[in-house]
Amino acid sequence: MKLSTSLHRKFTLFSKSLLFCICAYSFQSVKAQKTTIPVETKNTALVLQADKDNNLSIIYFGKKLNNSSEYGFVQSMYHQNTDYTGVAASPYTPAGSRNLFEPAIEVTHADGNNSLDLKFVNTNTEKISDDVALTSVVLKDPAYDFRVTLFYKTYFRENVIEQWSEIKNNEKGNVVLHKFASADLYLQGKTFYLKQYHGDWAQEMQPEEEQITHGIKTLDSKLGTRESLFQPPVFMVSINQPSNEDNGEVLLASVEWSGNYRTDLELDNKDNLRIISGINNYASDYPLQPNKTFTTAKFLYTLSNNGTGEASRQLQSWARNYRILDGNGGRLTLLNNWESTYFDFDEAKLKQLFSDTKKLGVDLFLLDDGWFGNKYPRNSDNAGLGDWQENKKKIPNGIASLVKDATAADVKFGIWIEPEMVNPKSELYEKHPDWVIKQPKRPEYYFRNQLELDLSNPKVQDFVFGVVDSLFIKSPNIAYIKWDCNSVIYNAYSAHEDNQSKLYVDYVEGLYNVLKRIRAKYPKVPMMLCSGGGDRVDYAALQYFTEYWPSDNTDPLERVFIQWEYSYFYPAIASANHVTDWGKQPLKYRVDVAMMGKLGFDIPVSKLDAKDLSFCQSAVKTYDSIKNVVWHGNQYRLQSPWKNDVASIMYVDSTASSAVVFNYLVNNRYNSGSKLPIVLRGLDATKKYRVREINLYPGTHSAIKQNEVYSGNFLMTVGLNPHADAYRTSVILKVEEAR
Ligand code: DGJ
Repeated sequence: MKLSTSLHRKFTLFSKSLLFCICAYSFQSVKAQKTTIPVETKNTALVLQADKDNNLSIIYFGKKLNNSSEYGFVQSMYHQNTDYTGVAASPYTPAGSRNLFEPAIEVTHADGNNSLDLKFVNTNTEKISDDVALTSVVLKDPAYDFRVTLFYKTYFRENVIEQWSEIKNNEKGNVVLHKFASADLYLQGKTFYLKQYHGDWAQEMQPEEEQITHGIKTLDSKLGTRESLFQPPVFMVSINQPSNEDNGEVLLASVEWSGNYRTDLELDNKDNLRIISGINNYASDYPLQPNKTFTTAKFLYTLSNNGTGEASRQLQSWARNYRILDGNGGRLTLLNNWESTYFDFDEAKLKQLFSDTKKLGVDLFLLDDGWFGNKYPRNSDNAGLGDWQENKKKIPNGIASLVKDATAADVKFGIWIEPEMVNPKSELYEKHPDWVIKQPKRPEYYFRNQLELDLSNPKVQDFVFGVVDSLFIKSPNIAYIKWDCNSVIYNAYSAHEDNQSKLYVDYVEGLYNVLKRIRAKYPKVPMMLCSGGGDRVDYAALQYFTEYWPSDNTDPLERVFIQWEYSYFYPAIASANHVTDWGKQPLKYRVDVAMMGKLGFDIPVSKLDAKDLSFCQSAVKTYDSIKNVVWHGNQYRLQSPWKNDVASIMYVDSTASSAVVFNYLVNNRYNSGSKLPIVLRGLDATKKYRVREINLYPGTHSAIKQNEVYSGNFLMTVGLNPHADAYRTSVILKVEEAR
């Protein structure tokens, strides 16, 4: 302890002189020989403390205290049951020594021993910018040359923390990692409520909330890819009361990993909640060679004492500022041809669609599935995947010529790919059966008639990169990519891997290698993350993508609910919303719902009657006038669709001078409607605002008094009634400062 304490003190002194490097947060009480490490954002503190024997524990996680020296008093205020292990509050619980709970890390050492203990060695905090800092905490097993460094990246203003670990094997032989979580949090409270999500195709983000009981609740995915099909990795834990939009302490969290993940929530004998989250260790014992480091996925969380509204605004602003590609930039509106043509198109039809795109007034035409494959033409979903050559019958002049035609029609051109996949009926499969994930001794089993390419294999990574690269080499003006991923991984087996346990992890790392290469060469081109729906969105993938596809279910009534739930975790700018023919709601309702994000259309424009066409054209212009507030503003969920006849969602710009309020009737029973005013949020009480209804359908008139001026105080105390009812099922209000 003496050595590490003095080293730590020396480091604290010297590091002050190092550029961009501070240790100011770390301090020690010499008398008690304890090292306290507060990991702080503007409002949150996660405080670690090493005791005299260098056991590291979480001593506090919650609202930041004014005086950091008082964190040392916290645990004396708790009189709970005994911790029989001494490591129950460990920030990275090691398995096999004293631990009796779910571990964060479990290993077999080079000598075959299964025990692990991790003692505090030192800590450092590096300031990366005025908002971002990185705290590292080094732990070491006293009996083995085996280290773990915990990393806490704090985003001060956003109150967001990203946490991960580096696991270093300095032993003489391989160490097998049986479990390698990103994070291990410890929460204290009277009761805890978990809000989790489940789903299936077209039923994404179905919420469930329950009080957490003793034992372990596991949220996980074993699907390999499109990990969220049954259960997305996002979740929230509310402390002492169920989740509430404006009150109470709540944690919003997600592991950042585009493959199998696992989150264990364990209520222990002291009634405290342990949250252990990271890559799923299912079928994934990972051999770590000597002198090698394994870096875990990141775990992301934000804590708020003012309910899910504030927590999600924190996460959304973090995502825009730091994670989503071009998160503070713009987005392209588009016309997609998937639902209007499916696989049935040719150059003449596409040229017509280019002029429809222009007529509609959107920025880009997006050519969907079906443009490739010759020996096995992609005329349905059972052939051609993997053969990324233009289909000579449908587009004899190739993509480059289509891009030229689109440019001549004054629209941009985007294209659909699904480069990780292969149909057994494809030339790619015939040439490279060893590139396909499948069991050598078992029958193939398909998801949408397709299989996964083995991205653990660098040759396959080159191929997948080449799919994108050759599109851009041939047609540098391609302005948008829709990257689909429809299949899960069955029969996980790689002809490339020497150890099959590595496949699930190496697949995802292989995918990231490809995406990194794409972004190194094409840093800006917008890409949509799609997965036959929204089953692949996560914060690791979103650093390479500008947007995600929330669901193939574009029925706007369903979308009000789906987009509502996604919005707790992801900002509107990333939500690709298309107007389609799904659902029974009027066109206006469909367009209004799609406007709460990145607006697109997937309808046969040429079949629209004059009124519908004129409405869509003016809606695109209206969208231009509100899109900045929707994309970059603060979101307030005013009225939940789950509990009200009318759902209401508001976006306010950063200066509280402009806002837009979307209202949707979600109950079709007799006399349903907005009987009471809807109280607005996020405005300035001292300002005056002019309110007007926008995006009216041609020939209809607003039921609200247009351009009336109200004070912010009135709007945020009494509220506004949008007059939404069976005759006005969807109402958008623009609220602008009256100067
Ligand atoms: C699934 C996507 O979600 C759809 O939008 C469409 O691109 C199809 N794949 C194409 O196969």
